Amino acid sequence: MTTKIAPSILSADFSILKDEILEVSDAGADYLHIDVMDGHYVPNITIGPLVVKSIRPVTPITFDVHLMIENADHYIPEFAEAGADIITVHYEACPHLHRTIHLIKETGKKAGIVLNPATPVEMIKPIIHTVDLVLFMTVNPGFGGQSFIPEVLDKVRQAASWREEMELTFEIEVDGGVNQETAKLCKEAGADVLVAGSAIFNEINRKEAIDKIRNA
Ligand code: DX5
Ligand code: ZN
Repeated sequence: MTTKIAPSILSADFSILKDEILEVSDAGADYLHIDVMDGHYVPNITIGPLVVKSIRPVTPITFDVHLMIENADHYIPEFAEAGADIITVHYEACPHLHRTIHLIKETGKKAGIVLNPATPVEMIKPIIHTVDLVLFMTVNPGFGGQSFIPEVLDKVRQAASWREEMELTFEIEVDGGVNQETAKLCKEAGADVLVAGSAIFNEINRKEAIDKIRNA
C-alpha cells in the first residue's frame, strides 16, 4: 500500500493559507493535518474551529484534525461541524479516553488516539480496537521543526504487530520531524500515514517534497 502523506499547515504561510492548502492538495497530499493548540495543554496557540470552517470549502481533501487541547470533549462537536473528517485526541489530555473516542464517533467522524513520545503504547491496548487511527508523536507536541525521536519507532512496530494479531484495520500515523530520511524508518516500522510540516512547506517545490517523503 502506498504511504499517505499529511502536510501539516502549521508550517504554512498563513497570510496565503488558501494557496498553500491548494498547492499541497493539488500535489497529491492524502490528508491535510491541522494542528489545534490551546496554550494550556501545549505551550502554543494555533487554530480554532473558525479557521477549520473557513478553509473547508477550499478543497475536498480529508481534514486530519489533531487536537492538542484540554477539555477536548467540549470542542469535538464544533470541530466536527466545522469540517473535520478525522479527529485525534491525546491519551495524556483525556481522563476518560474511551468516552471521548465514542463522542467523536457519535459525530460521524473518524476517531484517533495520539501518544506522546514518553507514553507507552500499552496504555491504549484495551481500547485500540475502537479507533480508526493511532498517531505516534515523534517530537514533543507544540511546535513544528523539531528533531525526530527514533525510540518511538518501537511503539509503531508494536502497534503494527497488534493490528495484525487482532485483525484490526486502524491506520498508524507518525507526526514530528518527518523528512526524507526519517520517513524511511517510519515506513519500515509499519506507519501508513506520515505528517510533515517543515519538510514540505519550507521547500519551494511542495510536490517534489511530498513525492520524496512518500517514496523514501
Ligand atoms: C507538533 C505538531 C506537528 C508539527 C510537525 O506539535 O503536531 O504536526 O506541525 O511539524 P514538523 O514536520 O516540522 O516536525
Ligand atoms: Zn500534529
